[in-house]
Amino acid sequence: MCGIVGYIGKRDVAPLLLEGLQRLEYRGYDSAGIVITGKAAAGRPGTLKMVKAKGRVRELEAKVPKRFAGTTGIAHTRWATHGAPSDENAHPHMDAENKVAVVHNGIIDNASELRTRLTADGVVFLSETDTEVLTHLIARAQADTLEEKVREALRHVEGTYGIAVLHADFNDRIVVARNGSPVVLGIGEKEMFVASDVAALVAHTRQVVTLDDGEMATLKADDFRTYTTEGSTTTATPTTVEWEAESYDMGGHDTYMHKEISEQADAVDRVLRGRIDDRFSTVHLGGLNLDAREARGVRRIKILGCGTSYHAGQIGAQLIEELARIPADAEPASEFRYRNPVVDPDTLYVAVSQSGETYDVLAAVQELKRKGARVLGVVNVVGSAIAREADGGTYVHAGPEVCVVSTKCFTNTVVAFALLALHLGRIRDLSVADGKRIIDGLRRLPEQISEILAGEDEIKRLAAEYADAKSMMFIGRVRGYPVAREASLKLKEVSYIHAEAYPASELKHGPLALIEPAMPTVAIVPDDDLLEKNRAAMEEIKARSGRILAVAHQVQEKADHTIVVPKNENELDPILMGIPLQLFAYHTALAMGRDIDKPRNLAKSVTVE
Ligand code: F6R
Repeated sequence: MCGIVGYIGKRDVAPLLLEGLQRLEYRGYDSAGIVITGKAAAGRPGTLKMVKAKGRVRELEAKVPKRFAGTTGIAHTRWATHGAPSDENAHPHMDAENKVAVVHNGIIDNASELRTRLTADGVVFLSETDTEVLTHLIARAQADTLEEKVREALRHVEGTYGIAVLHADFNDRIVVARNGSPVVLGIGEKEMFVASDVAALVAHTRQVVTLDDGEMATLKADDFRTYTTEGSTTTATPTTVEWEAESYDMGGHDTYMHKEISEQADAVDRVLRGRIDDRFSTVHLGGLNLDAREARGVRRIKILGCGTSYHAGQIGAQLIEELARIPADAEPASEFRYRNPVVDPDTLYVAVSQSGETYDVLAAVQELKRKGARVLGVVNVVGSAIAREADGGTYVHAGPEVCVVSTKCFTNTVVAFALLALHLGRIRDLSVADGKRIIDGLRRLPEQISEILAGEDEIKRLAAEYADAKSMMFIGRVRGYPVAREASLKLKEVSYIHAEAYPASELKHGPLALIEPAMPTVAIVPDDDLLEKNRAAMEEIKARSGRILAVAHQVQEKADHTIVVPKNENELDPILMGIPLQLFAYHTALAMGRDIDKPRNLAKSVTVE
């Protein structure tokens, strides 16, 4: 999704901003642009110089003229919402006098109404974007300072924004504001950065300040200040980003997806590190802010997330029910927030998000907080909006996930849920022996993941075998069902092969009609109490001449092929069973020549509705 990067300091700004944009490429975009303030003669205002291009950052780079010197600038990668991808619709947007330039992430809900009003006042629009409205509002604001002009403009605007603004008459500063779309300040030595994602900053500084909703900031080369959109000063203490710039590199892999799948043994090791308490056969999750008495009072747990995080939450809900015996379920946050949910004081809400910025999840959290609920976050990005909005929670420590398609973060999130379930279980009725059993199982995971990854060549061969399918069915029961759903999502996202996921038990209630030789099925078949039931489902498929690829703990006779995965404790099996299917999706997409790290139409973090 859209990306912002800005710089003010002494260095030549254009190469810095272009490099920053490249680091944001993974988020998905369709056009890019850059604006810088040219050198101001003494006592005279500077001029703004802008270049925009439809397509990739390298196309923008090719258009940037040789003489494009300046030490202050802002840049953007756009993901079209209002108006098709084009040079005109790319950001930044400037006013008629070329004095104000704005880059914007988010959506201005009342843009068309404001556009009509401004057009009636004689403003000529050059693009179809909602952002241009904001540019003209700032340019026409009567206030004396840039901060007040921006504030005045924002008062007319409804919707979400992360913005950065340059003004030719105030060329010693960049003014930024946040409402619903991330804005992070990077604090350097006599230089300041701003970005929508720390990925664009960490090569230069690891000292960051994340703005809250309703917060603004003024960046000058040697200082910054933060304040609310109402004008009152806020305190902002920089924190240190734990991830190194190298964590965002490809590290010798051809794609980020492959790199991230391959990192999972280490990533799981990281989420477990320092948390296991062998003495009481439990785990410590320092940030939960939920003491044992409060945890005992929880009557129900509702998990909210989107896409892959929602699927991780479904496995999380099962783990909580199994280990802690607390009724739990997961629901897409995007649906939850629109159905006027009944918020029960004894329910603990858990928001799950890799990015910590997904708008639908954030909005659900804000709605819950407004209604007085207690919300925990299970989040990957430290200091992200959802992490800060929640009352407590746990980080999943997967490390930066760059590929649009989530893999390692899914696995780590499920492990984090296993830790939460164990923690809650040991406060309630889970025995020491069962606690120890689960801890032993958790400790086996990294090695078992390495074992699965070592089988990549065989999975690649199987992917080639099934890559001709136009459509695939994924089935599983209870613990296997969310695994099937996630594996089906992975395949469709990255290969564009149509895939359906159903509980195996539901086959005969309708989807069996789809089964024929051209519709292969991937069956999740753990060695647990439902093994025979799963075998019966495979039998039904075989009877209709369906091809079957099983993911199981032992070779399945009914299946045409089986990927055998190592057995763990029944409750933890779902963590491992999804991993070969990430590789399956990856190799299918590779064989089909897909753009693996940036599947069509998708963006990494969906910070708009
Ligand atoms: C799928 C995928 C998406 C995200 C979803 C939520 O591979 O990555 O389905 O899981 O957009 O994103 P986060 O977890 O950042 O809230």
